[in-house]
Amino acid sequence: MLSCIFLFPISFILFMEFTAIANSNIAIIKYWGKRDEKLILPTNNSISFTMDEQLSTTTTVEFDSNLARDEVILDSKQADEKEFARVHDFLNLVRARARIKIFAHVVSNNTFPKAAGLASSASGFAALAGAASKAAGLNYSEKEISVLARFGSGSATRSVYGGAVEWQKGNAIDGSDSYAIQLSSEKNWKNLRNIIAIIDAEKKKVSSRAGMAETVKTSKLFRHRLEAVGTRFEIVRNAIKNNNFEAMADTIMEDSDDMHACMADTNPPIVYMNETSHKIAKTVRQLNGDSNEKIAAYTFDAGPNANIYTTNPKEVKSLLNEIEGIKKIIECKIGEGIHYSNKHLF
Ligand code: PMV
Repeated sequence: MLSCIFLFPISFILFMEFTAIANSNIAIIKYWGKRDEKLILPTNNSISFTMDEQLSTTTTVEFDSNLARDEVILDSKQADEKEFARVHDFLNLVRARARIKIFAHVVSNNTFPKAAGLASSASGFAALAGAASKAAGLNYSEKEISVLARFGSGSATRSVYGGAVEWQKGNAIDGSDSYAIQLSSEKNWKNLRNIIAIIDAEKKKVSSRAGMAETVKTSKLFRHRLEAVGTRFEIVRNAIKNNNFEAMADTIMEDSDDMHACMADTNPPIVYMNETSHKIAKTVRQLNGDSNEKIAAYTFDAGPNANIYTTNPKEVKSLLNEIEGIKKIIECKIGEGIHYSNKHLF
């Protein structure tokens, strides 16, 4: 049997293609700011919900000794220079960990537009971390995949798990304790929806990576955020543990408002929300006020598009239909974590 294995070239035995599927996540306590730029370590703990397959990335990776460089196809097109560099750097990290020097084929498809404030880097790097680590022969646990995904994009660390997920900022200098854990399974949130109002599906002008670095450097308000976000984190964490959306709705909106205030306080100011975004925020506040219940909570990422978590999607959608400037509405359920498939993309 052993002699049989030695008849095959090592690359044939070790390097097979692997396909991972990861869904995006939308934070309710936001990550905006790093304490270590290189290791992608955040200044605060964050919490998100993982989305369903409407916001997902499928990625196939194969290391191939015949390649002279990495080959990266994103959404059926050759990756542009910037995209290629990010994927190539990430693969270098995987190669270093696996102690291999072989280039890879990477094919990746999103079910939604990239870089439009819909957290495509979260699903993208979580899927790449899962597929590339397996393809390189690293037998990583979910925790290790979460740590690895963090190096591609901070928010990707949370997309490894389904349901409600916490990314612990950690204290270790080497970042070994900064990874995600699941707070509550998606099964506990069957009645919760994220109604996403797409206002603009174009690429954002300031990347979150560049934007948050500027905020940390120049915003005075950011120091206040760091003091206040811990309390909000505890409120939301407890509400999740008690399966109580109402108890966290106001805090979710407060945290989004606070992050966007810090962006506006950055020099030069960073403005992602537009007039339509603000109209949506006002409508959600009115809805909660009129009904005397916390039916909905908005949150905005690094883009104008609105994410409205709600236990009453019908009501929210009918109100959104009256607001001008919304191009598309997506109703997302709370989704599952990373998984693997035998249906490869090449
Ligand atoms: O991980 P990045 O670089 O895509 O940053 C994400 C930042 C926000 O989406 C704005 C907030 C968050 O916690 O996801």
